[in-house]
Amino acid sequence: MDKFIVEGGHKLSGNVTISGAKNAALAIIPSVLLAQGTFRFSNIPNIRDIWTLSRLLHSMGIHSELNNDELFVDSTGINSTEAPYEHVKKMRASINVLGPLVARHGHAKVSLPGGCSFGPRPVDLHLKGLEKLGATITLDSGYILAESKRLQGAKFHFDISSVGASENVISAAVLAKGSSLLTNVAVEPEVTALCKLLVKMGAKINGIGTTTLEIEGVDTLHAVDEVNIPDRIEAATFLIIGAMTKSTITVEKTNAYHLTAVIQALEESGAEVDVTGENITISMDKAPEPVNVATAVYPGFPTDVQAQWAAYMMMTQHGNSRVTDNIYKSRFLYVPELHRLGADIEVIDNTAIINSGATLKAATVMSSDLRASASLILAALVAEGKTEILRVYHLDRGYENLEKKLSNLGASVKRIKTEEY
Ligand code: UD1
Repeated sequence: MDKFIVEGGHKLSGNVTISGAKNAALAIIPSVLLAQGTFRFSNIPNIRDIWTLSRLLHSMGIHSELNNDELFVDSTGINSTEAPYEHVKKMRASINVLGPLVARHGHAKVSLPGGCSFGPRPVDLHLKGLEKLGATITLDSGYILAESKRLQGAKFHFDISSVGASENVISAAVLAKGSSLLTNVAVEPEVTALCKLLVKMGAKINGIGTTTLEIEGVDTLHAVDEVNIPDRIEAATFLIIGAMTKSTITVEKTNAYHLTAVIQALEESGAEVDVTGENITISMDKAPEPVNVATAVYPGFPTDVQAQWAAYMMMTQHGNSRVTDNIYKSRFLYVPELHRLGADIEVIDNTAIINSGATLKAATVMSSDLRASASLILAALVAEGKTEILRVYHLDRGYENLEKKLSNLGASVKRIKTEEY
């Protein structure tokens, strides 16, 4: 397991190119299971989660190849409809294959993802939605078994707005017989990206980008080429890095529209943000003002950015700020690690209260999950001395070439390859 050594205190400058969105890629690539043929996806990030998904597809007999940012997938050779535990345990989003498999192949056996480091993450809505479409679902020895000769269109309301459940149920409904009406559908850009891809493949979906979708099932879909959307979480992370290190940096190849809530919070903290086409430049030359954020479904402040925001708020010089997570109420595993660097943060229920004036000093810290690791990187970039961040494979799941991108901006980040722990 590799580790990073980050020397804090460097001012950053320059441009950084944002990669394709991890979560959108994990939503759109399983659509290969809905049609036979060769797909070409571009703007795909070269990260661990994509390798995991490719391995899962390989285990089903599906060939894929990642060349630079292009992923070719030939779905013709599929010979299994099983997603084994060994893949699903590495990446929960493997469950995205469930809907497409049962819709097109009539059966699926997908390992239950189980909990994750920041709390229970049930899949009840995925299953309920597929059952509503006529699938028979049973749970056996840690696996979800889904069967259906042909799914039937149905009305389904998502009790909670869920990105993954929306993706699974939409992907199934497009091949169901008859029409479906889905309400309280998640409107995250990644869900919209999936809908647009499905339409390109021949699906009939009305209401894309809204919480109500009308889907008219079709008999077959066809393979297509698709360009993935930019990663809004990576972009947000770099914007916060710019503000945190009191630097001027430009994030390129991004979509500011997807980042409205984050940009607004950055501006409220005193940063200058300038959007020009696909580029966003952030400038900051002082300590930030305290800004409270509360996560919400899109277009609200993303839960995937709250850990980075909490790290940023450690730089405030008066008062305190609050970060409330309404999506994952115990997603604060990064706090004890930030304490090791000198943070003054208290967690009460689902809110982190970040007191100003912390003096950050290098220490050895441990990554616990993807975005928690990002908050440690942010803190390390401003801490005095050399911080050692262990278990960076969490970062490798979702950030492409992070150390290279940071080094190009002038940060001191070294990856140490190690087998020792
Ligand atoms: C996706 C993102 C993740 C992000 C999250 C919320 C991917 C691969 N991951 O995760 O980075 O943090 O959206 O924006 O896209 N829930 C249920 N039952 C279900 C499904 C979800 O109760 O069947 C709950 C969850 O526990 C959570 C809330 O719904 O409290 C939202 O979760 P959801 O949107 O489903 O997250 P994911 O799709 O797993």
